[in-house]
Amino acid sequence: MSSTLTKRKPAAKRSSTKQKTRRAAKKQTLAQTQKSKLYASLVVQLLILLKGEYDLIANAANFSALLFNSLPNVNWAGFYFLRGEELVLGPFQGNPACVRIPMGKGVCGVAAQQCETIIVPNVHEFPGHIACDVASNSEIVVPLFDGERLLGVLDLDSPLIGRFDDQDAEGLNELVTVFVGHEEGLINDHG
Ligand code: SME
Repeated sequence: MSSTLTKRKPAAKRSSTKQKTRRAAKKQTLAQTQKSKLYASLVVQLLILLKGEYDLIANAANFSALLFNSLPNVNWAGFYFLRGEELVLGPFQGNPACVRIPMGKGVCGVAAQQCETIIVPNVHEFPGHIACDVASNSEIVVPLFDGERLLGVLDLDSPLIGRFDDQDAEGLNELVTVFVGHEEGLINDHG
């Protein structure tokens, strides 16, 4: 006679809620440590890529390739630069994207207008989100500044809902600061 009943572990072997919570917290700490190590290594790699090169397009292209190939679950990584009153597509990795975004429109335009990093856990819930790639479900946009002056934004998309968190915001802001610090002279000439 067959039975569909599954054997339950004896009470002593079952994990208590406390143990499960502790294990989950440990897993989260490990993931956070790995993420901060990844961003620290990206800073080093970016500095190596930028060393001795001051062409904005070449450096932005390599920066976007570094992010696209190093960060897990990212389907688009690239730049929009401020040109007059709108953002214009710069170097990127991923599917072809919309070229011009007016200030205040989409996630990029809102981040640029508000001069702040925006994390969107679910792009389908963001009013006015501009869909460039149907695979994108979450997004983070980090503004680029030369002092007080807005230069553009760095935009990353992911197929995963809730892919980006405060650690990504912190890591990407650090990378962007390194990038802008290096490019400053050139951006001032061409911006
Ligand atoms: N989703 C962006 C548009 C750019 S693409 O994601 C590459 C937005 O809403 O601004």
